[in-house]
Amino acid sequence: MPHAPASAARETPAIRRAAPDDAAAIVRVNGEPDVLANLLQTPFASVEAMRARLVEQQQPGKGDLQLVAELGGQVVGCAGLHPVSAQVRRRHAMVLGIGVARQAQGRGVGKALMAAMCDWADRWGAVLRIELTVFADNERAIALYKGFGFRVEGTHRAYALRDGVYADVLSMARLHPRPPQLGWPAGEEGA
Ligand SMILES: CC(C)(COP(=O)(O)OP(=O)(O)OC[C@H]1O[C@@H](n2cnc3c(N)ncnc32)[C@H](O)[C@@H]1OP(=O)(O)O)[C@@H](O)C(=O)NCCC(=O)NCCS
Repeated sequence: MPHAPASAARETPAIRRAAPDDAAAIVRVNGEPDVLANLLQTPFASVEAMRARLVEQQQPGKGDLQLVAELGGQVVGCAGLHPVSAQVRRRHAMVLGIGVARQAQGRGVGKALMAAMCDWADRWGAVLRIELTVFADNERAIALYKGFGFRVEGTHRAYALRDGVYADVLSMARLHPRPPQLGWPAGEEGA
């Protein structure tokens, strides 16, 4: 499907947190050939493993945000923010992943998912740095990320096997545009 013009009348995607029952839909979207090739997944993903992951992410204290996007009541996209590590000094950073079903691409679903994740990170999640890797030839995704303030930090050569070829990826990151400040109101500093 061609990239739909911004002016075209289109349904607004509904964004919500993923539930364990979304496992099959997420595996279906991420398993589409065009989507899978641009992620770090492998074919024949397990729905049960995805369900277990979604259940695990909902346990108290887990910082993951896993979202799905629906058009016409059907899941057509999924995206997540996940802690990069358990290290205390990396608590401010999360890693981002996103995939939109081919038939729904170019209709604003990716943008809606990115907007929801950036809003959550900036205003609720205490996230100061969002990082990701993207295949160096994935112009569509790179354009989407740049639109949300991500910058290229570097290139990893032969980073991942993609359809029989070791392909390069770019590291990209977005720093919080207005990090929340702490401080006493003026005049109360010494009270
Ligand atoms: C990358 C991806 C998430 C974008 O989602 P999408 O729903 O198609 O994107 P949107 O319709 O919301 O478009 C958002 C922006 O992406 C870019 N974009 C979308 N389609 C594009 C195209 N055909 N060519 C170039 N840029 C494009 C544009 O910057 C666009 O913003 P604009 O509409 O203001 O011009 C989606 O194409 C996808 O899932 N691709 C396969 C998996 C993948 O690459 N995931 C990312 C791995 S790092």
